[in-house]
Amino acid sequence: MWPDRRLQDLLGIEHPIVLSPMAGFATVELAVAVAAAGGLGSIGCATMTPQQICETADKLRTQSNRPMNFNFFCHREATPDPLRDEAWRARLAPYYRELGLAETQMPQPTLLPFGEAQCAAVEATRPAVASFHFGLPEPALLRRVKAAGCRVMASATTVAEARWLEDHGADVVIAQGNDAGGHRGMFLAEDFAQASASQPGTMALVPQVVDAVSVPVVAAGGIADGRGIAAAFALGAAGVQIGTAYLRCPEAATSPPHRAALRDTAAAATALTNVFTGRPARALVNRVIREVGPLSREAPRFPLAMAALAPLRAAAEAHGSTDFTALWAGQSAALGRELPAGQLTRTLVAETLERFRHLAG
Ligand SMILES: Cc1cc2nc3c(=O)[nH]c(=O)nc-3n(C[C@H](O)[C@H](O)[C@H](O)COP(=O)(O)O)c2cc1C
Repeated sequence: MWPDRRLQDLLGIEHPIVLSPMAGFATVELAVAVAAAGGLGSIGCATMTPQQICETADKLRTQSNRPMNFNFFCHREATPDPLRDEAWRARLAPYYRELGLAETQMPQPTLLPFGEAQCAAVEATRPAVASFHFGLPEPALLRRVKAAGCRVMASATTVAEARWLEDHGADVVIAQGNDAGGHRGMFLAEDFAQASASQPGTMALVPQVVDAVSVPVVAAGGIADGRGIAAAFALGAAGVQIGTAYLRCPEAATSPPHRAALRDTAAAATALTNVFTGRPARALVNRVIREVGPLSREAPRFPLAMAALAPLRAAAEAHGSTDFTALWAGQSAALGRELPAGQLTRTLVAETLERFRHLAG
């Protein structure tokens, strides 16, 4: 059926389709549905406390005995920079005035990188797969993750990052093209905003990563149907990771305005922006991206930029506006379909296998 079975054999799954771990969006129900259809269900744990991770693992266990992927961020914690923070507040001040908001000091977002507490949660829950964005955990923690029996996957946005991940112990490299929705997983660049402009798209990145590493490569970014999956295999990928196409499934925790924006294919232009969190990420273009971004030199480092934007988002959404909402999406948003996740996964498999048959003539 599939021309390459390395990913299925390594991870114990039926089809080489990985649900993107999407912190705050990928629910237990979404992961269970994808896993039941033979793909790899993923949970974005970056925004969870260790206790929430353990509770999520318990819930998963009652609903599925399939392999699951727990995902974490490995960013370097930002040191507060009062001058930059001040400049950011000044940049956003006109919007506070427009929405009639007082400029209160917002609590800093708590987006902790993978550390001792998260590692203990992995050891307690032992997911089949642990995946990482923004690099890998420090070596001692990674050894513990592997000792807990987890296969390790991590995102690379360049060939150099792919080589680094293989050298530092990744069992699978996710080649994340510039087309991908959400945050760029980059970690080797000095200046993320500048580097994001020169990163290759999925079509160019995947074959170069395949040539550079010997572990299986999963293609991510802009893949939304069987044509994209077949193309990824033609480029040498052993699997695909898909996020945006699952955001419209009823099981996803996508907000109603975000769903409406994804449905509006006429407006489905995306851009790489750092205005929402301080790190480059791809989202549907809206007012704050147009007027403040897409890449702002004033945005505080990840994730500190989020704090000053949160009240604007809440106030605008209360009036039915997504002017300040992060509408995460990849470049294939317009190819999305509104289907339950299990049905979408089965459709993706059927479309791909049909395309392979067609290509074989
Ligand atoms: C809404 C959203 C949230 C995301 N959150 C995460 C995350 O928490 N961890 C992660 O490793 N990748 C995250 N990503 C990136 C995905 O891993 C993947 O690179 C991307 O979904 C692939 O591109 P596509 O969205 O065009 O399919 C996210 C992507 C989206 C769209």
